[in-house]
Amino acid sequence: MGQLLEVKNLTKKYFAGMQESRAVDGVDLEVQEGEFVVLMGASGSGKTSLLHLLAGIDRFDEGTVRYTVPDKRSAKYQDVDFSQMGEKARSLFRRSNIGIVFQQQCLIPDLTVYENILLPMLLARRPVKKEAIFRLCGRFGLKDHAQKYPSQLSGGQQQRVAILRSVINKPTLLLCDEPTGSLNSAQTKLVMALLSGLNQGGQTIILVTHDRKVAARGKRVVYIEDGRVKGELNFAQAKPEDAEQELTGFLKERGW
Ligand SMILES: Nc1ncnc2c1ncn2[C@@H]1O[C@H](COP(=O)(O)OP(=O)(O)OP(=O)(O)O)[C@@H](O)[C@H]1O
Ligand SMILES: [Mg+2]
Repeated sequence: MGQLLEVKNLTKKYFAGMQESRAVDGVDLEVQEGEFVVLMGASGSGKTSLLHLLAGIDRFDEGTVRYTVPDKRSAKYQDVDFSQMGEKARSLFRRSNIGIVFQQQCLIPDLTVYENILLPMLLARRPVKKEAIFRLCGRFGLKDHAQKYPSQLSGGQQQRVAILRSVINKPTLLLCDEPTGSLNSAQTKLVMALLSGLNQGGQTIILVTHDRKVAARGKRVVYIEDGRVKGELNFAQAKPEDAEQELTGFLKERGW
């Protein structure tokens, strides 16, 4: 298990007229393969902006985002540096290495659950494994829903479809932006069980949340304030109940 991601001095500016503001302001972050990192921070602190930079969706103004990923063809590792890549190259890299679950759900309403999950395989020109998709749906409580449309599902079911869709191509890294933001606690538990299961199977995850219970399922919390990293809490060893208590203390110190 090596280092997957290295972020240095990452900065993203926005301009309103002459006024410059920094949504991400000099962030340093390292993530190892197999980690489950949680990003927390107040609304507007820059979490979504940071996630979009890590995904290569938006371009940044300063700093570097470096990935070291297994090269699927040669069994060696491939190094990439987003600061040296254009939009097209970043998007190609993203397609084969990064899965994203957005803050706003973006299932395609005119496609069924099955077709939504299938889509990334088609885009990546991978052979479609119909049986595997149905098996996956079954494992995550969507067995009877595979042929339905998103509007016929509950919020939690839709969110699970969005997660399955983002991991169907086995991305090296999964980025999730408040995947449980609009869910009740039972649905949240199901979604988190799915994510924890994936992480236990080796999936590297970076997840944004406001929810302490959700954050306690991760192994490390990185706290963001005004676009900067303002502290880290590591609870790889703690039991989930202890993790939540530790986190409460950590957040309290930061005025949460
Ligand atoms: N496209 C944009 N143009 C201008 N400013 C933006 C844009 N996107 C985000 N911002 C600003 O950048 C800052 C960080 O926004 P961001 O969406 O990253 O916050 P967040 O931490 O994800 O908040 P939340 O918890 O509410 O989702 C905010 O002040 C926001 O107004
Ligand atoms: Mg956000």
